[in-house]
Amino acid sequence: MRGAAMTDEPKREQTRTKKTTVADLTAKKRRREPISIVTSYDYTLASLCDRGGVDVLLVGDSAGMVMLGYDSTIPVTMREMCMFTGAVSRARHNAMVVADLPFMSYQTGKADAIRNAGRLVRAGADAVKLEGAGTMSAKVRAISDADIPVMGHIGLQPQTATLTHGYKVQGRTADEAAELLDAAMQLEEAGAFAVVLEMVADEAAGLITRELTIPTIGIGSGPECDGQVLVIQDMLGMYDNIKPKFAKRYLSLADEITESVAKYVEDVSSKRFPADENSFQMYDGQYEELRHRRQKDETQN
Ligand code: KIV
Repeated sequence: MRGAAMTDEPKREQTRTKKTTVADLTAKKRRREPISIVTSYDYTLASLCDRGGVDVLLVGDSAGMVMLGYDSTIPVTMREMCMFTGAVSRARHNAMVVADLPFMSYQTGKADAIRNAGRLVRAGADAVKLEGAGTMSAKVRAISDADIPVMGHIGLQPQTATLTHGYKVQGRTADEAAELLDAAMQLEEAGAFAVVLEMVADEAAGLITRELTIPTIGIGSGPECDGQVLVIQDMLGMYDNIKPKFAKRYLSLADEITESVAKYVEDVSSKRFPADENSFQMYDGQYEELRHRRQKDETQN
């Protein structure tokens, strides 16, 4: 059993009390204050990230890989994204919650895009994110016209990487960089409130950042973006399947967790766990009373 009554620890005070808004993020760009974003998919880690002071919790479809064990983001469904979004939104106090529209939830038409964005908002998101510009800009326009804020995502686009430019750095040539700038401007024009630049060459990301009035959020796109986003499992060293060069590790939790579990297995095997301090005893005299009753029952039968 786990519940509030099981611990005497007071809940840690939240230091900020206001929920981050789109206007806050735009103001940060204007003031040149960097925006911090991490991905989140579950209640426990989302609470800690919110307490750590991030501006945005991104419920990324990277959940498909780090939470569900798929080898890409393609199989992720709306139902799964709504479940992750609900858990994260129940955890947050201050951060904005942005949820990814998964593969094939918006590509199929404006009506689907609006309906699925609405489902994520009903699940607890403040805003949604989708990948691509070009034909996708019309979906951005449709969703933001329905009063749901939209974050764009260009550069490496995991949902279509095999079809388009592949898993490689984008914008290394003048042509590619110009194409990216054009895409970013289309998204701003369509009403996006921010745009993620994934694995875009630093100089191209810097140029896009200076040209746009909305914030750019980089992942592997250098220091000139208005903000940064990292997958929380990469940051905490929990997911070993891929080690992206752009991710900075602040902890090696994979090793720490594996070692802790091994110690627990050893404790259970050797009966060192549970100890008295992990156990509950009957009230004084009650065990003797029980034994006495049982003895009496046995002699009567
Ligand atoms: O799904 C995700 O985690 C993302 C970030 C990498 C930007 O889209």
